[in-house]
Amino acid sequence: MEKTQIQELIRTAMEQLTYSYAPYSHFQVGAALLAKNGTIYKGCNIENAAYTPSNCAERTAFFKAVSEGVKDFAGICVVGGMNGILTDLTPPCGVCRQVMMEFCDPETFEIVLATDTEHYQVFCLKELLPMGFGPGNLTE
Ligand code: THU
Repeated sequence: MEKTQIQELIRTAMEQLTYSYAPYSHFQVGAALLAKNGTIYKGCNIENAAYTPSNCAERTAFFKAVSEGVKDFAGICVVGGMNGILTDLTPPCGVCRQVMMEFCDPETFEIVLATDTEHYQVFCLKELLPMGFGPGNLTE
């Protein structure tokens, strides 16, 4: 992704912090998922009093896209922090990496972790999920 595209994703992910529902952890996360068709799907984390039904920001964005028939993705930006204050990068949890593995090319799908529009790092999925198990492993 080009820098201007990355910065747009970072801004969009940061806007999602407003909608984060995190009354238990107080750790707010925002995500912006760029589809190859140019659409950006937005997500926030959504917690639950029973804890386990909680959903990460990344999966919120993926499930919104897939539920609308979009399954080709270029990259995602994730931002997060306690009470929405972005002091450190927020790497995707293992479950979210596995969801990415279902729909994204590990070599080319880009994951942007940011604290602001000038401070970010870009990884490909394979770097964050080496030797991942995906749809290709189930072909005969
Ligand atoms: N969380 C995310 O939304 N994405 C991640 O990749 C890491 C964790 C959320 C889940 C939970 O609501 C809160 O952050 C604390 O774990």
